[in-house]
Amino acid sequence: MSDSTVPEIYGWTLERHILEQQRHVAGASGEFTKLFQQLALAGKIIGSRVNQAGLADVLGVTGDVNVQGEEVQKLDVFANHALIRCLEAGGQVCLLASEEVDDPIPIPTRFPLGKYVLMFDPLDGSSNIDVNISIGTIFSVHERLSGATEKPGLRDCLQPGHKQVAAGYIIYGSSTMFVYTTGKAVHGFTLDPTVGEFFLSHPNIRLPERGKIYSVNEGNSAKWDDRVRSWVDAMKQEGSGPGRPYSSRYIGTLVADFHRTLLKGGIFAYPADNRNPEGKLRLLYEASPMAMIAEAAGGAATTGHERILDLQPRELHQRVPLYIGSKLDVEDLERALG
Ligand code: AHG
Ligand code: MN
Ligand code: MN
Repeated sequence: MSDSTVPEIYGWTLERHILEQQRHVAGASGEFTKLFQQLALAGKIIGSRVNQAGLADVLGVTGDVNVQGEEVQKLDVFANHALIRCLEAGGQVCLLASEEVDDPIPIPTRFPLGKYVLMFDPLDGSSNIDVNISIGTIFSVHERLSGATEKPGLRDCLQPGHKQVAAGYIIYGSSTMFVYTTGKAVHGFTLDPTVGEFFLSHPNIRLPERGKIYSVNEGNSAKWDDRVRSWVDAMKQEGSGPGRPYSSRYIGTLVADFHRTLLKGGIFAYPADNRNPEGKLRLLYEASPMAMIAEAAGGAATTGHERILDLQPRELHQRVPLYIGSKLDVEDLERALG
C-alpha cells in the first residue's frame, strides 16, 4: 500500500545526507555534521526573514558603510548576526570571518572552540534585496591551522581555496536551496517551508561541459581591457565558436548567476577593469567557495590567468577577477586573454 501524496523526496533530508556521508569518513567526530546543522538553521532563519521583506521592517539601508565601502542594508546586518548566533556557540568553529566585518570574529571565551574556520558572505546580492530578486548566503569551511593552545587568527583565514574542506551557498529565490560540496560531488537541497527541512532535490549536480549563456555586467565594458571586450563580442557572433551566438543573462547576485551557470552551463565573469584592477568579488567569501563547487561539478574557475583555488590570499577582504563555469567556456576565455 502506498500513498502517492507523500513525495519520494521526503525520504532524504540534508541532515540525513550529511550523516550518511560522514559514516564513511574515518575518525569523523560529528563536528562537521553539527556545523552543517547550524548552517542550515541560519539559512532557514535568513530565508524566513527574506520572505518577510516588504511586510516587516526588513528593507532599506542602515545608514552605515561597510569595510568594502558599500552601503549596509538591514538584511546584511540581520544575516550576519544570524550566522554568528547560529555558529559561535556550538563548539564546531574556532573563528569566523564575514564580508561585513573588518577583522576575523573571535568566538566568545564562554564557548568551546572547534576545529573549523568558517568564512561567509552573509547576504550576497544586496542591491537586489529591495527589488524582490534572488539573493543568497555563501560559506567556506577550512580546518584550523593554529594549534589547540594558540589563539586562532588571521593565518587560519588566509588559506588557499584548495584547502577548503567544504563550501556552499543558500539561495533565497523562487524556493530556498542549500547547495554544497566537500570536493567530490555537489548536492542541492530544497527547503520545504511547511516542514522546515531541506530535502535532497538535486543530487550530484554536473556542470555542462559547454553552455550557451554568458553572464557579465556589460555596463562596465568601457573600463575593460580590449581582450575582455573582444572575448565578450565574439560570444555574440554567429560562427565564431560552438553554439554561438550565446544568450546573455545577468542578475547581479553572484549566488543566483552562479546557480544558473551550475545548472545550465555557460560562463559568469566579473573581470578586472581600469577602476578596479582586482575586480569586485571577494576571494575568500565569493570566488573561492564558488570555485570549489564549480570544480567539484566538473567546471572551472580562473582569474583569467590562474586557477582561483591555487591563489594564496594576502588579506581577508582581497578582491579577485573571476571567470567561472563550464570547463570549455573557461578554457576559451583563458585563450582569449592570452
Ligand atoms: P554583495 O551584495 O555581497 O556585496 O555582493 C554583490 C556582488 C555579487 O553578488 C554580484 O555578482 C556583483 O556584486 C554585482 O556587481 P555589479 O552590480 O557591479 O554588477
Ligand atoms: Mn557578495
Ligand atoms: Mn554581501
